[in-house]
Amino acid sequence: MTQDTPPAGVRDILITAALPYANGSIHLGHMLEYVQTDIWARFQRMRGNRTTWVWADDAHGTPIMLSAQKAGIEPQQLIDAMKAEHEKDFVDFQLSFDNFHTTHSDENRHFAELIYSRLQDAGHISVREIEQLYDPEANMFLPARFVRGTCPRCKAEDQDSDACENCSSTYDATELLNPRSVISGATPVKKMSEQYFFKLGNFEPMLREWTTGEQLQPEISNKLKEWFEGGLMDWDISRNEPYWGFEIPGAPGKYFYVWLDAPIGYIASHKNLLGDDEDEFNRHWQAGADTELVHFIGKDIAYFHTLFWPAVLEGAGFRKPTQVHCHGFLTVNGQKMSKSRGTFIKARTYLDHLPPEYIRYYFAAKLNARVEDIDLNLEDFVARVNSDLVGKVVNIASRCAGFITSKFDHQLADGLPDNELFNDSATAGDSIASAFEKREYSRAIREIIALADSANQYIAENAPWTLAKTPGNEQQVQEICTLGINVFRNLMIYLKPVIPEITEKSETFLNCGPLSWSDAAHPLISHRIEKFKPLIKRIESETIDAIVEASKEDLQKEQAVVEGPLADDPISEEISFDDFAKIDLRVATIEAAEHVKGADKLLQLTLDLGGEKRNVFAGIKSAYDPATLVGRQTVMVANLAPRKMRFGMSEGMVLAAGPGGSDLFILSPDNGAAAGMRVK
Ligand code: 2FM
Ligand code: ZN
Repeated sequence: MTQDTPPAGVRDILITAALPYANGSIHLGHMLEYVQTDIWARFQRMRGNRTTWVWADDAHGTPIMLSAQKAGIEPQQLIDAMKAEHEKDFVDFQLSFDNFHTTHSDENRHFAELIYSRLQDAGHISVREIEQLYDPEANMFLPARFVRGTCPRCKAEDQDSDACENCSSTYDATELLNPRSVISGATPVKKMSEQYFFKLGNFEPMLREWTTGEQLQPEISNKLKEWFEGGLMDWDISRNEPYWGFEIPGAPGKYFYVWLDAPIGYIASHKNLLGDDEDEFNRHWQAGADTELVHFIGKDIAYFHTLFWPAVLEGAGFRKPTQVHCHGFLTVNGQKMSKSRGTFIKARTYLDHLPPEYIRYYFAAKLNARVEDIDLNLEDFVARVNSDLVGKVVNIASRCAGFITSKFDHQLADGLPDNELFNDSATAGDSIASAFEKREYSRAIREIIALADSANQYIAENAPWTLAKTPGNEQQVQEICTLGINVFRNLMIYLKPVIPEITEKSETFLNCGPLSWSDAAHPLISHRIEKFKPLIKRIESETIDAIVEASKEDLQKEQAVVEGPLADDPISEEISFDDFAKIDLRVATIEAAEHVKGADKLLQLTLDLGGEKRNVFAGIKSAYDPATLVGRQTVMVANLAPRKMRFGMSEGMVLAAGPGGSDLFILSPDNGAAAGMRVK
C-alpha cells in the first residue's frame, strides 16, 4: 500500500534507536535509550506528526560467531532466538516501534552491497595490505577486543588491544606487549592481509560543517573537534574469514565489518516495513529528502554515527540524519551496573516483578537533552513513583471520582468553577510539549507534577468531603470534583507518551476515547464517566529487594562456575562455624591441565586427591598456561556437589586468589603437603 505525502504542517519523522547485539539479553541500560526513544515517538504521534520507528537486531560480527560456537549452535539459530527474546522484552516494555528487523536480512545485504558499490564507483574505497594479529591455534585474525596484553606505555598487564585502562593511552594492537588471544590463549602472530578501507578523509569539509550544526548536541560537536584534530583516518570496513556477516562482492574471503552494515540496518528495516512503496522509501532516504531522520544512540557510539555514518550516506547518494541524539550511560545506585551487586538488571527480571511504567516514569523524570549519565537510585525510584504517580497524579482522580459516581450518577458538572486551575493546566501544554520536543523530559515531568500539586492543593482547600455533608452544596461539590477530574485528564494527556497503559485505563475511566494533545484545551463537562478503578499500586521496597536478588541469581545461572574474581563482590551472608566445618578443603595435585574448547576463562583440571581423581573446571585460564600447572598443588573444595556445565561435569572447586587476569594464584609448586590432606 502506498502512503500519501502528509498534509502541510505535519512533520514526517523516521526514528531509530541503536540496534542491540543479537547475543545478549536486554538490560535496563538498553532500556534507558529505548524508553527515551519511545517517549519521543509517542509524543510526536500525539502531536499529529507522521512518525515511524524502525530498528533491528545487530546480528553480525565475531562475538556473535563465537557465542554461537560456544553454545554449539549455528549463528542463525542464535540470532533467531535472541530476536524473539528481544522483541518480547520490547513489546512488554510498551515500546511502540513500527518494525524490528535484523541486520542479517536480504534487505540489509542488498543495501550494504549497493552502498559499497556506490562508494567504490565514486572512488571512496581503497585496498591495501596491513599487518594484523592472527591466532595460529584458532586460525583466525583477531578483532581488537580478542587480544589482551601489556600496555606498551605504562606496562600495566591484561589490557585491551587498543587502549589502556590504567594510563588511558591508545595504541595499535600490534604494539601490545606479551599479547595473547582471548579465544585460545595462544600468542598471536603478525600477519599481512589485504583490507578494504573507506576514505573518510574525502568527506572532511562536509563533516566539519555538518558536525557543528543543529544535528548534534553541543557536547558532541565539541568532542568531534578533538577527533578532527587527530585527523580523519581511513576506516577499515572489511574483515577476514571466518566471519559472520556478508561477504564483500568481488572479494572472496572478505566480509563487511559489522559496523558497516549495522547502521545500514536502519534503512533495511524501513524497507522491510514499506515493502514495495518505493515513493515513501525515496521520500525518506534520497539525497536532500525533506523528511526527518532522527537517531537515538548512546555516547559510546557517537563516532560511528556522527562521522562514518553521515559520510557513508553522503558518499552513496543517500540523505544524512536530521539529528543524532546521544544519551549518557545508566548507573545504578551511583555506580556502574554490577552483576555481583544485583544491579545489572535484565529487562525481563524487572518485568517479572514490576510493570514497565514505573521505570519509564522514573527514566523520564531524570532524562534531559544533555549527554549525561543517568542514575537509577533504587530507593529514590520507589519514593518518586509512590509520591508522584500514586500520591499526586492518580490521587486526584481517586479523591474526586467517588463523589461523581455515587452522588451524581457518574455525571460531570455542566461547567467548571470560577478558577484558573483548568486554564493553567491547559496552557501548560505548550511548555510541556516544547520540553518533550527538545528531549528535556525531566523538565516536562517537573511541570506536570507542579500542576498535580496545585490540583491537590485546590481539592484539599475546597474539601468536597466536608461540603458534601451539608445539603445545598451539591452543585459546588460536583463542580469541584469535575475540575479535579479535568486536571487529572490533562495530566494524563501530558503523561501519555511516558505511561501509555495507565493513560489507556484512564481513558476507559473517563469514557473519552484516545486522548490527543489538543484535547487538553477542552474540558469534559456534562459527560458521563465510569466507576474509578485503582490505576496503579504503590511499589513496596521488598519488590526491589526481590529484583536485586533475582539479578544475582541471573548471574549465578550464567556462571556455572566462578570464572574469575568479582572485584566488587560484597561479603556474603554470615555462616556459622558448623556451616564452615561442612566444607571439606583438601590439597590436591594437578595431574593434567588442558584448554577447554570454546571457553574464554576455563581450564580443565584432573586433580589427584591421594588416589581419587576429580575432573574440575577452573576459571584460571587468564593466569596459567596449562602446561605449567601439571605436578603443582592446589586447594580444592572436595565435597561440593558435582555440577553439570556446558563442557562436562565439574566435581569440586579449586580455590585461587589474586586481583584477577594474570595475577591469580593457586598453591605454590612447593611439595610440602601430601595430596588428599585436609586443610583444616
Ligand atoms: O553498540 C552497540 O550495541 C551496537 N550494536 C549499536 C549499533 S547501532 C547502529 F549502528 F546499528
Ligand atoms: Zn598503560
